[in-house]
Amino acid sequence: MFNFLKKKPQVLPTFAPLVTDMHSHLLPRVDDGSNSLEMSMEVLAMMKQVGFEEARLTPHYQYPRFPNEEQDILRRFESFCAEVDQHRGERAMPLLKGVSGEYRVDSGFDDRARSKELLTFHFADPDEGAPKGLLLVEFSLHQPMLGVENVLFDRQMEGYDLILAHPERYPYYDSNSKMMEQLKEAGVYFQVNILSLEGFYGDAARKKAFTMIENGWVEFLGTDMHNTTYSEGLRRASVNKSIIKLMEKEEFLNAKLVR
Ligand SMILES: [Fe+2]
Repeated sequence: MFNFLKKKPQVLPTFAPLVTDMHSHLLPRVDDGSNSLEMSMEVLAMMKQVGFEEARLTPHYQYPRFPNEEQDILRRFESFCAEVDQHRGERAMPLLKGVSGEYRVDSGFDDRARSKELLTFHFADPDEGAPKGLLLVEFSLHQPMLGVENVLFDRQMEGYDLILAHPERYPYYDSNSKMMEQLKEAGVYFQVNILSLEGFYGDAARKKAFTMIENGWVEFLGTDMHNTTYSEGLRRASVNKSIIKLMEKEEFLNAKLVR
C-alpha cells in the first residue's frame, strides 16, 4: 500500500576526490563484464552518482579465457563512446577517457608483452612515470604462479610502470606477505577495489584492503565494475561510514592520470 512512501536507497558523491575511475569492465560483451550497452550505461550512471567524473575501461586479457586483442578493443571502445554519447541527454554519466586492459599474468602474458605494445594509462605530468605508461596487471585469484615477480620486473625493465589490481583479493598472499613487500620495494603501485572495502568480496579481503591502505601501500582505488550487481555494491560503499572517513583522510593518485 504505502509504496510511494518507501525511501529511495541513499547514494553519496563520496568518491568525487578521485575524479577518475581506472578499473572497470564496461565495454559490452568482451569479457565477464557488462553484456549490453544498456547495462553499461546503468552502471556508468551509478558511477557518476557516487562522484566519478571520468571512467577508464580495462577489459580482461587472459589466455585462453578472454583472447582480446588490443586493436580490436580500441575499435570497440570508439564505437562504445559514440553510442554512450548519443544517450547523454537521458542520464548523467562519467566521460569515457580511455581504454587499456587488466592483463592477467599467466602463461601467455610474457609472449604478449614481448611481441607488442600493451595498452596503458599515463600520468598527466609528462615527466612522471615510465615512458610506456601504467600497466594494470592481475594475478590468478586461486593459486600463485611461480616466478611471477620476475615476469613483472621484466616489464619494468621494458619501460612500463606497474599497477597490481586488487592485491587484497589474492587469498594466498597476506597483507604482510614477503611477495607483497617485494613488489612494493620494486615500486609496483597497488590498486584496491572500492567494493573490497565494503565487504563485497568477503571479510578477509575487506580487512586486507584496509590494512594495506593504513600501511601506505595503496596508490589507486578502482571500482572494478562488471555489472549492476556491482553498482549496488558501489552505492553501498558510497554511504559506508568507514569508507567515507577513509576518503576524507587518505589521498590517492587517480586524479593525476591524464584528464
Ligand atoms: Fe577487473
